[in-house]
Amino acid sequence: MRLAILSDIHANLEALQATLRQMSAQAVDRVLCLGDIVGCHSNPAECIALLRQFDPLCVAGNHDRAVCGLITTNGFSAAAARAVVWTRPRLSADDLDFLATLPHELGVQRHIVAVHGALHPDAGNEFVRLDSDDKRRLSFEALAAHPSGARLCAFGHTHRLGIFELQGGRVQARRGDEISLRDEAYYLINPGTVGQPLTADRRATYVILDSARQIVTIHRVEYDASIPLAKSRRAGLLPRFSSLPLPQPLKRAGRRLGMRPVIDAIRWIGR
Ligand SMILES: [Fe+2]
Repeated sequence: MRLAILSDIHANLEALQATLRQMSAQAVDRVLCLGDIVGCHSNPAECIALLRQFDPLCVAGNHDRAVCGLITTNGFSAAAARAVVWTRPRLSADDLDFLATLPHELGVQRHIVAVHGALHPDAGNEFVRLDSDDKRRLSFEALAAHPSGARLCAFGHTHRLGIFELQGGRVQARRGDEISLRDEAYYLINPGTVGQPLTADRRATYVILDSARQIVTIHRVEYDASIPLAKSRRAGLLPRFSSLPLPQPLKRAGRRLGMRPVIDAIRWIGR
């Protein structure tokens, strides 16, 4: 099976359209979405509708659950919380029901376990960012003990692409755009983000897992990111100064001077 894995669309329609267009040319058998379909950008209903045309396997992200009212926005940035409030009335009852019934965790052919944030702990793991070796080791332990016997765990939430391997007690990041999986190793696979990158590289990213060949390939998708950013700004979803490049000294000055819009912009960019 060739499984396309994507995550963190965040209501960015242009990024999702470009991604699915490229994915459609890749002879993919199934699409797996790791959550955060909505939040941040201004086309949540359109993204849900487009994604559902592909009959995806899907888990819930923290933004998806917050929009449904299943969790509060405690711990969200001010801009992310504002996007949750903005998004909710723009979704149909069917959209909200779709998001509300997404599982926290999903097994795919006893081969791969999908989560939004992490495979540990048992509760609240959609908020855990696997952004350190210590945290990744805890999720590797949960994967090794998982009743499915799966060796692969797909996760998102950090918005950072990464393939991590546990072999012989050692955790390492695997490099390259085509990665061969070893039989005896465990893997944590993060496809990055479709709609909300944290770097200057605005390209959408996703991965394809070819389970027959035991290969993961990384894909990057060009699109005009200025379009969703302009729409989101018009909708009031972006802080006033979000379009400004913010060097570190300015960020520090903003924090010192209590410049709320600047701080909001930093936090929004950092989600
Ligand atoms: Fe996200």
